[in-house]
Amino acid sequence: MSMTLTPEQQSILNGEKGETLAKVMKTLVMYGETFGAEKMVPVTSGYGHLVTSFGLSVMKPVYSLMDQLIGSGALSGQKFSVDPRPLDKNVPTTLLQDLVFKFMYSKQEDYEKQLQTLGLLDKDAFTCACYLEQVGNKPKKGDVLSWAESSAVVYANSVLGARCNRNSGILELFGSVAGFVPYFGLLTEEGRKATWVVEIQTTKKPEAQILGSAIGMKVTEDVPYIKGLTKFIGTELNDDATAYLKDFGAATASNGAVGLYHIEGLTPDAVEQGEKLIAKDAKTYIIDDAELERVQKSYPVIWKDPNAKPKLCFVGCPHLSLKQLHDWTTLLSDALAREGRSKVAIPTVFTSPVAVQAEFKKTPDYQKLIGMGVVLSYICPLMYMNNPLSGKMPVVTNSNKLRTYTSARYHTDAEILGILSKGGN
Ligand code: F3S
Repeated sequence: MSMTLTPEQQSILNGEKGETLAKVMKTLVMYGETFGAEKMVPVTSGYGHLVTSFGLSVMKPVYSLMDQLIGSGALSGQKFSVDPRPLDKNVPTTLLQDLVFKFMYSKQEDYEKQLQTLGLLDKDAFTCACYLEQVGNKPKKGDVLSWAESSAVVYANSVLGARCNRNSGILELFGSVAGFVPYFGLLTEEGRKATWVVEIQTTKKPEAQILGSAIGMKVTEDVPYIKGLTKFIGTELNDDATAYLKDFGAATASNGAVGLYHIEGLTPDAVEQGEKLIAKDAKTYIIDDAELERVQKSYPVIWKDPNAKPKLCFVGCPHLSLKQLHDWTTLLSDALAREGRSKVAIPTVFTSPVAVQAEFKKTPDYQKLIGMGVVLSYICPLMYMNNPLSGKMPVVTNSNKLRTYTSARYHTDAEILGILSKGGN
């Protein structure tokens, strides 16, 4: 199928705005045609978001591509935020890890300069939770985006009612440079219909990251319509509900490939259209306490010694919101007090965007958190973990995304509090 382009799009493709932009457009057209798109539509969000945040020494083609874009003036038409940085000197490392990271990410500084020239929103706009108020890249309902970070795409589609496909890295940059994206999938009414109905029948509020994992593994890339969750998380998209959905969504997107979910009575499409969103012949998935237990038990433990004492704990993948930082500070302080401790039992890193940290630092909870020995960082824990050296470390986390992609071991929030206050596993 070939696409019908507007005169403006056609002229870009013909090279009237330069050879580089023509190549960018051609790539987007080919991408769209692969998925049966019949047209390109304008990107309407205020900002873009890039997934490639790391200056890996082996990614030479990316740097030369960036140079070519910059050299030819094909800069991003919109400013953008970027996924979290791969390095933060505050995060505990061994000498050997320092050497490995130095080698792996030797291009980090140069790459950040390229990003700034291309259109980085702010020098510290590195986070996957770019849609948090303090970061300022929060699309409006109906906005068309060119993003790729899976946890941000699913949040923008589901919680904010924006429209974005699960693009790949670099293609999302091309969409921001050209200002157009192919119209297919989650951009269309049809593509936003639910082909699964999920009924929550648990006796208590499901752990967000296990519920997301269960649904992601069951529906893979389909759209689920979820019933029975508002009795646990309410019918208002307040700080608690949005934090829950952030973590839930990241798990659906990484344990499966979900790009959009609807929560009956809560998320914007579902509030507006209700059951009209459910496609004919939608399948049903019932989730009760036993199903969540089954899912959690199915996670393999890939540590060399499954009984090893954890050496590090990461909380905040995706990055923590301000409310979550406060909540964790209280929960942790209570848990430590119960055990008669003043500091965490193992090295612990909480990750959150720089802009959120800046707000948090103005409150007494910051000193309280640091006083308990927790490191507050802007790092991406996955970037820390994805090398053989870190892979051998017994790391625990409450992130199902981190569990999926690395050797980190998943625990519920309550279990993590137990580990941090008592040590052991
Ligand atoms: Fe964000 Fe990195 Fe986790 S991008 S979701 S902190 S893997």
